[in-house]
Amino acid sequence: MSAVVLKASNLRVSYQRSGGRFLALDDVGFELVRGQTLAVVGESGSGKSTLAYACAGLLAPEQGSVELLGRPLAKQRAKDLKWQAQHLQMVFQDPVSSLNPRQTIAKSLAEPLLSIASEARPAADEISERLAELITQVGLRQDVANRYPHELSGGQCQRVAIARALANGPEVLICDEPVSALDISVQAQVINLLVELQQKLELSILFIAHDLGVVRRIASQVLVMHKGRIVERGPARQILRDPQHSYTRNLLASEVKLVFG
Ligand SMILES: Nc1ncnc2c1ncn2[C@@H]1O[C@H](COP(=O)(O)OP(=O)(O)OP(=O)(O)O)[C@@H](O)[C@H]1O
Ligand SMILES: [Mg+2]
Repeated sequence: MSAVVLKASNLRVSYQRSGGRFLALDDVGFELVRGQTLAVVGESGSGKSTLAYACAGLLAPEQGSVELLGRPLAKQRAKDLKWQAQHLQMVFQDPVSSLNPRQTIAKSLAEPLLSIASEARPAADEISERLAELITQVGLRQDVANRYPHELSGGQCQRVAIARALANGPEVLICDEPVSALDISVQAQVINLLVELQQKLELSILFIAHDLGVVRRIASQVLVMHKGRIVERGPARQILRDPQHSYTRNLLASEVKLVFG
């Protein structure tokens, strides 16, 4: 199979606003290769989340296409959406609100395991084993299973959200600013976890970030967005060392330095 797991081509998305239509994505495309992390960076409003939603099938582009593992993203059929959910998952910025406050962590983690196509669904006695494995995998203690999201820290909730996203073993993870809402001291720990999981599980990650500090540690390739367009792209090492575009240079100048330990 091709090494490209997620491919976006010529994406165009606009939103209706009071003054008319606003172009949020203008001819955006990329290829995410198996086992790599492609970072999308840009200031607030540059179109990063819009790109993430289009790639996850959460919004339909007016133009262009997205292919997951060589298959175009399907529109509506439940069977196709289940297939997509099995192979691509998202991690959002706000870890607490991405979990159901009324459900224990165990229940939240079991949900995706029970929702997939019956042939791939684990048997009842395998579920608790898989839950324990997921909790360990994201560096949490087993006693979180019976707790509620509000009883955990933001960093712990984001670990649970990552475990939930990984429950069915997706190949592709889209992380939309997964550490922006966390304390600066916790940000590096969660990034370290993602790097570790990526290597262990051979994940491919589309990683969205505001600033380049977090990207340094995790990205293989970088794509810089400005006003809905890609203004620069290339290997992370090259872009971070020798940015060509003035916008990228400004982003680098405002970088927050994280300590990865
Ligand atoms: N549903 C919507 N209706 C109208 N405009 C929208 C909508 N969603 C996003 N926009 C606008 O589209 C542009 C791109 O938004 P988007 O959320 O993709 O940016 P972003 O790069 O993710 O920003 P941030 O870093 O703040 O998360 C912004 O100007 C935003 O105001
Ligand atoms: Mg966003």
